[in-house]
Amino acid sequence: MGVVFYSQSMNYTNTSKNTFAITTPLYYVNDVPHLGSAYTTIAADVVARFQRLRGLSVLMITGTDEHGQKIERTAQAYGRSPQEHCDLIASSFVELWELLGIKYDRFSRTTAVRHQAIVKEFFGRVWDAGDIYLGQQKGFYCVSCEEFKEERDLLENHRCPLHPNREAEWRDEQNYFFRLSKYQNQLEALYAEQPNFIQPESRRNEVLNFVRQGLQDFSISRVNLDWGFPVPTDPNHTLYVWFDALLGYVTALLEDGDEPTLANALAKWWPINIHLIGKDILRFHAVYWPAMLMSAQLPISGGVFGHGFLTKDGQKMGKTLGNTVDPVDLVRRYGADAVRYYFVKEIEFGKDGDLNETRFVNVLNADLANDLGNLLNRTLKMAQKYCGGKVPPVAPEDIPSDNALKAIGMELGQRVTPAYENLAFSQGCEEILTLVRSSNKYIDEQAPWTLYKQKQQQALEQVLYAVLESVRLAAYLLSPVTPKLSSSIYQQLGISLDLSQTTGDAAATFATHAQWGMLAANHTLGEPHPVFQRLELVS
Ligand code: MSP
Repeated sequence: MGVVFYSQSMNYTNTSKNTFAITTPLYYVNDVPHLGSAYTTIAADVVARFQRLRGLSVLMITGTDEHGQKIERTAQAYGRSPQEHCDLIASSFVELWELLGIKYDRFSRTTAVRHQAIVKEFFGRVWDAGDIYLGQQKGFYCVSCEEFKEERDLLENHRCPLHPNREAEWRDEQNYFFRLSKYQNQLEALYAEQPNFIQPESRRNEVLNFVRQGLQDFSISRVNLDWGFPVPTDPNHTLYVWFDALLGYVTALLEDGDEPTLANALAKWWPINIHLIGKDILRFHAVYWPAMLMSAQLPISGGVFGHGFLTKDGQKMGKTLGNTVDPVDLVRRYGADAVRYYFVKEIEFGKDGDLNETRFVNVLNADLANDLGNLLNRTLKMAQKYCGGKVPPVAPEDIPSDNALKAIGMELGQRVTPAYENLAFSQGCEEILTLVRSSNKYIDEQAPWTLYKQKQQQALEQVLYAVLESVRLAAYLLSPVTPKLSSSIYQQLGISLDLSQTTGDAAATFATHAQWGMLAANHTLGEPHPVFQRLELVS
């Protein structure tokens, strides 16, 4: 393993290796998943699906963070052993991902036996670098954040702003510390040399301000805590949950039968291209994690994207306010594609975003049921009536390049690709919708039913071809967000391609399918039936 401090790639794709690894946070198992967890995971799945679609070899990592005081206490409160509790809650995450159509490759659990071996080896490297020492930790600890807080950052009665219903607890104990301060300059150099390392810009600025104030060493062990790995050099201490959790990303890279060594874990997929996280855990990923990797003399991950918080009807969603939304319930009521689409399209990734169910239903009905679904349905019916249920015998080259739909369609793939790459999902969806909306307008203006009456068969066929092809392209480019809906559209268009499987030469498939004009003349179309049922507001 060479000593490379940071990867040189400026964007998140390791194009030289043709691989792409992406992570969600490893979720605490203090409770069943809520919508905040689902939000990051949906976003990661969208990126992973897009990168697979375009032909990269992708590894999507998610999982659970199972150690620490918070989990220990929760298990106790339920009268369960910690492991029993973790197993139970971890399975509810797996079930939710299934329900949401999340195609992850690895589910990393930090209580896995092989994880301990990775943590131990990593700790050894940091220890050998002289970056761990014993010291006295005094301060207020928020168990819900699993983080020491500066007194100035706490509210009245030492309550944590993120968990105002709980008081932070005073601690004065011997802990092992990680020499974070030693990495001040190297971290600043990393941020300067890789301006994209922390995204979006607002989060980058937050981190730069924090680091500029001067970094302090942080404690990486706890006493009076059983639920965790013992510190390899001193079993009277338990490793701090965050030290072990971040390494869960590395353990996840091991293949099934691999001996759990860092060399094996880092062989194929490291450095991970991007960590998707919420803004509350930015410091751990953008400051502590790269410094730990520097200390262990390992390459740094490609970047960190810190998204915003979900709010419900304008208020931050959380247990404190009791306004959390159960993602299982939401999917059962509206379907996975609807939930995925709403959060990806309606919230600018990086900003806070609101869930308002009336808006949810309206957006889904407008975009997917009406604009896209009805468009396909009525066009297929016209193709049945006027063209014998087949794709009209039109060559895309024969459609003039200033045709309203061809003009948008020819550029759409190139516009949507960078949107997905830069995690600007909402913008990507808007681009796709522009083609869909223009298709509706075009069909109304061209009035194929009139062309039929006027016996202008050739013009009629061109119109129907242009619209069918536009629906196809929109469905294809939207498939990372709405995999089921896109697959149904492909089926009805009579195209046998499973959009969620990337078999064969995926890059070549992408090259043709992401282009306007691939629909083959004369092939038989499927039976029209609604691909997206109108939603009703269910309370
Ligand atoms: N276990 C740590 C992560 C360790 S990663 C090695 C953790 N877990 S968590 O379950 O508390 O939070 C996981 C993610 O959910 C965080 O990225 C957090 O930002 C996100 N969310 C929690 N509430 C949220 C909202 N209301 N809205 C959006 N995301 C939020 O932190």
